[in-house]
Amino acid sequence: MSKGIKIVTIGGGSSYTPELVEGFIKRYDELPVRELWLVDIEEGKEKLEIVGNLAKRMVEKAGLPIEVHLTIDRREALKGADFVTTQFRVGLLAARAKDERIPLKYNVIGQETNGPGGLFKGLRTIPVILDICKDIEELCPDAWLVNFTNPAGMVTEAVLRYSNIKKVVGLCNVPIGMRMGIAKALDVDASRVQVNFAGLNHMVYGLDTFLDGVSVQEQVIEAMANPDNAMTMKNISGLSWEPDFIRALGVIPCGYHRYYYKTDEMLQEELEKADTEGTRAEVVQKLETELFELYKDPNLDIKPPQLEKRGGAYYSDAACSLINSIYNDKRDIQPVNTRNNGAIASIEDDSAVEVNCVITKDGPKPISVGDLPVAARGLVQQIKSFERVAAEAAVTGDYNTALLAMTINPLVPSDKVAKQILDEMLEAHKEHLPQFFNKVEA
Ligand code: G6P
Repeated sequence: MSKGIKIVTIGGGSSYTPELVEGFIKRYDELPVRELWLVDIEEGKEKLEIVGNLAKRMVEKAGLPIEVHLTIDRREALKGADFVTTQFRVGLLAARAKDERIPLKYNVIGQETNGPGGLFKGLRTIPVILDICKDIEELCPDAWLVNFTNPAGMVTEAVLRYSNIKKVVGLCNVPIGMRMGIAKALDVDASRVQVNFAGLNHMVYGLDTFLDGVSVQEQVIEAMANPDNAMTMKNISGLSWEPDFIRALGVIPCGYHRYYYKTDEMLQEELEKADTEGTRAEVVQKLETELFELYKDPNLDIKPPQLEKRGGAYYSDAACSLINSIYNDKRDIQPVNTRNNGAIASIEDDSAVEVNCVITKDGPKPISVGDLPVAARGLVQQIKSFERVAAEAAVTGDYNTALLAMTINPLVPSDKVAKQILDEMLEAHKEHLPQFFNKVEA
């Protein structure tokens, strides 16, 4: 890396890219990025140009010698990369809208990450990420793959199981969001708050919380039990928790847990929204149009605050801090998705978990938590089974395996409903599921 760092961002035309660029600019002294390659596909060329030009203006304003390259030639971009970040969406937001709407017809929450929607997002995404892994192996074998693409837990699981890439980390902004929410509830600066995170992506718990090193878990639990504290992300409704349930649970759930612990109320809300403002994907489609209009302004040279309306706001803090700590061997603690290696006793060693890790130049070293509380363990294991079976279906294109994944998802009430949703979604997403429809007979 003597010539400076080369970063390649796949899905570079995403509206989130200014987050990343801002993160690299802020950290330039420690993390001298020399080349940033934003890669997209033919269909995304226009967005890539718009967001890429904004990235160039941001770098110019900062007066830094970071070269920003825009390309649709992924292989050209990957040559000699040090870090590859992935933030793409196969089928774009239109596919997400189907992931959310079709299950609702059957009175089932779609949930684009850990629900039936997440299954289909995985089926579309995993073959693509595995192709990217092959390119990395060939063109930049020493690079770290930093994945943001959802379902981030399932994708990390698939890379660990079905590729030769070992240097992979899955990232999410949920833990940062939780820490910030806790700090707000305690009315203190977030830098003073530490949380022991453990679980899976979008299924992570705060096992203990510290303010200046002293446990304040009880206080945080009480704050969560207070209906005035929504403590959620922009993309998830802040329906209040049953206070006694939160006290009994004793660990801090993430926003996504509402789908599993408050399934009925969340379903009712999603049904109502689908009929009024639209599903989250439909809301985000409008937001994106507004964002890209702003990005087009040649006088704009900062990340516009409107980007914070997206659920992934501040995700660059997760990505850039991770890259910084690997590059500088910082050995600080960050929650990431990585191979369990015994950190959570009731999850297999070779499965992906989201857990606090020490971040070294050799990657994340998970910190052992012993085990999750018995009340949380079952749901986590169930979602892990779902992720594993779904990843297998994505790789094999096997119908029965996909049906199994759909049926064991906790949001799906029966095998019959699972089959109905599966069939309708397979048909709707046909063009992005070649492994199911264009099978090459052996
Ligand atoms: C959360 C999750 C991300 C997800 C995002 C969706 O913060 O951590 O994994 O992609 O929200 O936000 P959106 O604005 O697209 O609904």
